[in-house]
Amino acid sequence: MSTRIRVLDEGVINRIAAGEVIDRPFSVVKELVENSIDAKSTAIRVDIERGGKKLIRVRDNGTGMSHDDAFLALERHATSKLTSEKDLISIATMGFRGEALASIASVSRLRLITCDESDEPGTELLVEGGVLRKAERIGSGRGTLVEVANLFYNVPVRLKFLKENRWESDLIDELITRFALAFPHLGFTYSQDGRLKLDAPPVKSSIERVHTVYSREVRDNLVAIDYAFKDVRVHGHVAKPPYVKSNMRSVFTFVNGRSVRDRLVNSAVMRAFSNLMERGRYPLAILFLEMPPEQVDVNVHPQKAEVRFRKPKVVSDAILNGVHEALMGAPFNPQPIFREPIIPERPYIPIPERKEDPPRERETLVPSRFEAVPLPPAKPSEPEPAALTYAEPGRYASMGVLGQLPGSFLVLHTREELVILDHHAAHERVLFDRLLAIERESVSSECQGLLIPKVLEYSRVEFRALIAHVNLLRRTGFAVEEFGDKEIIVKGVPPWFREADVEDLFASLIEVMLDTGLRGDPTRLNEELLKNIACKAAVKEPSEMHPSEIRALLASLDASSSADVCPHGRPLTVRYPLSEIRKKMGRK
Ligand SMILES: Nc1ncnc2c1ncn2[C@@H]1O[C@H](COP(=O)(O)OP(=O)(O)OP(=O)(O)O)[C@@H](O)[C@H]1O
Ligand SMILES: [Mg+2]
Repeated sequence: MSTRIRVLDEGVINRIAAGEVIDRPFSVVKELVENSIDAKSTAIRVDIERGGKKLIRVRDNGTGMSHDDAFLALERHATSKLTSEKDLISIATMGFRGEALASIASVSRLRLITCDESDEPGTELLVEGGVLRKAERIGSGRGTLVEVANLFYNVPVRLKFLKENRWESDLIDELITRFALAFPHLGFTYSQDGRLKLDAPPVKSSIERVHTVYSREVRDNLVAIDYAFKDVRVHGHVAKPPYVKSNMRSVFTFVNGRSVRDRLVNSAVMRAFSNLMERGRYPLAILFLEMPPEQVDVNVHPQKAEVRFRKPKVVSDAILNGVHEALMGAPFNPQPIFREPIIPERPYIPIPERKEDPPRERETLVPSRFEAVPLPPAKPSEPEPAALTYAEPGRYASMGVLGQLPGSFLVLHTREELVILDHHAAHERVLFDRLLAIERESVSSECQGLLIPKVLEYSRVEFRALIAHVNLLRRTGFAVEEFGDKEIIVKGVPPWFREADVEDLFASLIEVMLDTGLRGDPTRLNEELLKNIACKAAVKEPSEMHPSEIRALLASLDASSSADVCPHGRPLTVRYPLSEIRKKMGRK
């Protein structure tokens, strides 16, 4: 009887397994640096050539290995970091599987030089494609050097999948940045094709490291976070909008010191920033999550880049609240934000008959577009600074108003600065915050009857989308009813909304309602709808503002949750320090 099934030989098994752990130069650097960190090094040097394809060298001053251990280190499933299955529950080292070095050695030409604390000489091993070619005792200082040359020279398929050098080295740059941020007390030196790219000596705090790694522009925009929720602590720094990035690569998260890219973590970070940034923009965040090791399973991903939390909700709440508190001075959606109902609590009330309560002339309402948003500023009911008010009360209200640029922005001043204020964006922020409060408190905004109700016709899909959100429209002050199976009748709008803009607003709301990207996230969808309402209701940039309107707007801004950016993340002001103006004028 013949058999076609054969047990693979060890070399092939190793190469298959290596593919899981090592898929590009980036993963080699990651594994080697993690080993150096686990070996209690205080100085780690990384050199790469040609995107790491030609050479990766990692040298450290850690514990090193004895002669016998050096051989064992290259065996699969040989580790000094775990002894029993029990240890898997509370892993405190970066590595634990005992397969990284064996995997790297099976797909490259690897040289290991290591020496431990004993008086014995060091060891040099040379392995090619998993086969030991040379083993020698040599004189060497304490620590370890691993050189990986010609990665994937014996796995042409993998080689083909590598991208150009630049692309591969960009990944490694980012990785080294992550390590440098995560371990400020360790020194990192990094060079690329002989050019020094980072020289970060050991420092005491993560903010000192941030200063080495980032430009002044980033540093000036950072705010610190330190927030504890149950047994999760979140600390680190985030850049305050309007500082934004165009991709997610500047969100650095570390779970118990381990750099991870986790969907739950990322989405909590994004959520905390959701009303401060335009869509398609991303924050810069350096966040350290600390929790008892048994609260997190790190053994779920071949490259240990993902983790699983035992209590995901606690982790995401801690991040959300921590980031929000750092940005706004208050946790996300505290319970309750306002002690008193924001406006008298009443469900949607049908619009009064015209005879008894004639709608006011809308033209006479212009100044009250700002006052009429019927919400008082948030009043903290307890002494703690949890209310969503801006940290410096009266910041805007105390500014002097110089006027308005023709058909454009407002010009204000403080003692030290000339301030240009985008009044559309500012009004949008005020309205949005108040609409958000209405939603959170489940109360309804005032509604004002239209003299002539408006009938609007839609396609079936659009009609159904609008009707599905009719309660949100009613709570925000729009009196809408179904009229047949494709039309709706608008009988009233909130006092702060221009009747003429209704059709335009509903068209943009429908667009958001039909956005497939938002369907799975009702909270975000609602927020997007409110942003649209705020945007359409806000005073337009060219409109001229009456001084009383300007004052009302400034006072409202001071009560706003984030008086620096509009709900889409655009800055509200551009500021020119008087000192700079004087300098430009040639004055001292
Ligand atoms: N730079 C180093 N300094 C001292 N010892 C090292 C160093 N690199 C590796 N070792 C030793 O070699 C062993 C094997 O390393 P390897 O990276 O293959 O596995 P690991 O780190 O234990 O687990 P993992 O596969 O999860 O990384 C380690 O457990 C450690 O004892
Ligand atoms: Mg390792």
